[in-house]
Amino acid sequence: MTNERDPRNRLNDLDARAWTYALRSVISTAYPTRGAASLAHHLRRKHPSPKPPQLMAELIRFFTRRHGHILDPFAGVGGTLIASSLEERTAVGIDLSPEYASIYQAVCAELGIPSQTYLVADARHLLDLPAVRERPFDLILTDPPYAAMMARPKTGERRKRGRPQPTPFTTSPADLGNLPYHEFIRELSAILSSALQVLRPDGHLVVFAKDLQPTPEHHNMLHADLVVALRQIPGLEYRGYQIWHDQSQRLYPFGYPYTFVANQMHQFILIFRWRGE
Ligand SMILES: C[S@@+](CC[C@H](N)C(=O)[O-])C[C@H]1O[C@@H](n2cnc3c(N)ncnc32)[C@H](O)[C@@H]1O
Repeated sequence: MTNERDPRNRLNDLDARAWTYALRSVISTAYPTRGAASLAHHLRRKHPSPKPPQLMAELIRFFTRRHGHILDPFAGVGGTLIASSLEERTAVGIDLSPEYASIYQAVCAELGIPSQTYLVADARHLLDLPAVRERPFDLILTDPPYAAMMARPKTGERRKRGRPQPTPFTTSPADLGNLPYHEFIRELSAILSSALQVLRPDGHLVVFAKDLQPTPEHHNMLHADLVVALRQIPGLEYRGYQIWHDQSQRLYPFGYPYTFVANQMHQFILIFRWRGE
């Protein structure tokens, strides 16, 4: 293997060694949550589930070249946008919440990095936003809310120990995180389908998905249901997934001492290639 970038490689700026490392099936991380290396985690943690910019940076390095252009329709406090600045890419982020937008601005100020275009808007109408239509994106990298997961009261250990219940991302009826499972999948597919209109051919769509606990009615493997739904979009090719193992998650004795309840310390990173219409 050489340290040179292969001239045939038009996807990214990686050499063969870095490319191979990026292909590991489990990305296991324990990023710092204090100090400068935490990338202002103390501000970002005001969001219920911020993504580590270091993780997003790794995906951005694989799926774009320097100066590439990235869209995140569910930007939150800016995991994708912060990573884009750190990796010398440009980005457009959308989120319903003005609070998350201002936390993102505070993070950029603290880190001394340029802020990306952040639009407080409903991603269901993303094609109406001029900044989204300005020029094609190389990558859509996003971490959507998960089917009423944040809004749903939790049973089990969390409740037993009197832990605070998870709050919804926003209370807006437009918040996908407040929708029932199947409606959520329909709305998310519609948003991603319209976002593909502004993705360049051969660009990638990379979507995080976390499964829910099974119920007697449904397996709730959101990642699988999402792949089934997105594969219906003509021109969109499913390429596979990687697993993000978040070592910072605590293990809880769910179900103890009666029955098995999975601790979910991982999320799926679903990868699609856009062939164009
Ligand atoms: C899992 S969070 C994203 C977190 C983000 N990756 C970060 O690092 O902060 C999902 C986000 O989607 C936003 N959201 C939900 N429905 C939306 C909609 N219809 N349009 C735009 N944003 C929406 C929520 O406000 C929430 O911040």
